Amino acid sequence: MANELEREVARRRTFAIISHPDAGKTTLTEKLLLYGGAIHLAGSVKAKRARRHATSDWMELEKERGISVTSSVLQFSYRDHAVNLLDTPGHQDFSEDTYRTLSAADAAVMLIDAAKGVEPQTKKLFKVCRLRGIPIFTFVNKLDRYGREPLELMNELEQVLGIRSYPMNWPIGMGPEFRGVYDRQARVVHVFSAEGSHGESEVTERSVSIDSEEIKSVLTETELAKLQEDIELLDIGGDEFTREKSDVGQLSPMFFGSAMTNFGVRPFLDAFLDLAPAPTSRPTTQGPREPTNPKFAGFVFKIQANMDPAHRDRIAFMRVVSGRYVKGMNAFHSRLGKEVRLAKPSQFLAAERTSIEDAWPGDVIGLFDPGQYRIGDSLAEGAQDVLFEGVPRFSPEFFAVVRSKDPLRRKQMEKGLEQLSEEGTVQIFQQLAMGMKDPIVGVVGALQFEVLQYRLEHEYGAKIALDRLPFSHARWVVGQNFDPKSFDWEGNRQTVQDRDGLPLVLFRDDWALQHAEDKHPELKFVSEAPLL
Ligand code: G4P
Repeated sequence: MANELEREVARRRTFAIISHPDAGKTTLTEKLLLYGGAIHLAGSVKAKRARRHATSDWMELEKERGISVTSSVLQFSYRDHAVNLLDTPGHQDFSEDTYRTLSAADAAVMLIDAAKGVEPQTKKLFKVCRLRGIPIFTFVNKLDRYGREPLELMNELEQVLGIRSYPMNWPIGMGPEFRGVYDRQARVVHVFSAEGSHGESEVTERSVSIDSEEIKSVLTETELAKLQEDIELLDIGGDEFTREKSDVGQLSPMFFGSAMTNFGVRPFLDAFLDLAPAPTSRPTTQGPREPTNPKFAGFVFKIQANMDPAHRDRIAFMRVVSGRYVKGMNAFHSRLGKEVRLAKPSQFLAAERTSIEDAWPGDVIGLFDPGQYRIGDSLAEGAQDVLFEGVPRFSPEFFAVVRSKDPLRRKQMEKGLEQLSEEGTVQIFQQLAMGMKDPIVGVVGALQFEVLQYRLEHEYGAKIALDRLPFSHARWVVGQNFDPKSFDWEGNRQTVQDRDGLPLVLFRDDWALQHAEDKHPELKFVSEAPLL
């Protein structure tokens, strides 16, 4: 068993792709699945999406707005690796979801549009990866079009993101002249030919050593001279590559290609799987939990209701951290303080949900959730003291009172709100003032209000109106002698309570918060819920 566990850990890779919308994440994901043999003709994910929503793009709203709202998990195999790709939404209003997903990843691939370079959302997501200290690989996409010079992009990464990069390969040409990539370690040129294919199938490659005579029949004199000049520049002026620096996200291994034409996808995937770490240990209150610990343990990083409208189910996504998960096993649920059965597991194999028998560290499984899981929950086999740390929670910045448009469907609205809050889509607060029964919802990005409205109507049959409130901060109050009744201050602050009954104050702006801190040194206003 120990050997089997070690083997399964060693062959796994779990990562997420981060990018600004339109950089080509959907396209690259599809191409990775193509090379992993999970789909046979690329384009099918998109075609399917057009017909009916695929797992990674399942909401009507996503279709209407052309954005990906939820994260999903795809597993495929490539060579002898089992690869878990965590999909994340690109839109900034859903970055909270992305942050949580990153807590389940061991590495990130930062996808950059060669013409646009580092964009705002790339920057935000990069920061989260940095905080987590995970390795960050860079894939410069859309080389089939004219973009910026590779050296300029390396420079931008350093200036804007503060990370140095090490090109593992180097593009030969750009736009219609993009011929291939040069592998610096192997000193081999991979030349691609897309004859007869428009990126639906694997591209034909020819690999030739740069030191051979043959290279002259593959590249023109000009191409070869330019490549040799570039390589010399890199060798003299660039960093040295070390695994140590790459493993902690200090140096980003960089690749070039075109997800659309498949040029450079295989060289990237090969090198990435060699360099990306196998599942890593995770911090717990008792110290790090190693993946090779024979006892199963994992944590919930995402909850998703109604993934399949036909089934009306709720799925808790759990990352396996250690040991082997076996279908139907029991595990200790730390927050509830009791053993639970981990029921109806499913895994997400290339956009299809399938039932699974077992799972290993690095894998993500979807557990049927009768309402017992919350984001951040820890589950461990035969142990009560395993508490994972580090699934981030974010303080909402936009607030609104929710009113049911149809008083007869108020119950449905409340049920929907409760479930969506457990998913982490919104946070719900109760007003404390007399007669104020309507709940207040808080979100991290304003677009989430639209999602809330849409989902309440379509999944729970509850039409709602949202009255926006002027607040921008929510703070839990810690301290004696807090009197919620006398704390409200028209327009500047309002006292509410969370679903555990803990008091919070909503503040209009920085000034209002500062004012309260100055006037009430006996109280603490904290942005994370105090532990119960
Ligand atoms: P996203 O998930 O990051 O938002 O990006 P997505 O893959 O949907 O790609 C955004 C657009 O960029 C798409 O074009 C896609 O075809 C294009 N694209 C992706 N990779 C490449 C590439 O390597 N080269 C070029 N030239 N284009 C690329 P679209 O016009 O919005 O959609 P479609 O008409 O292709 O479906």
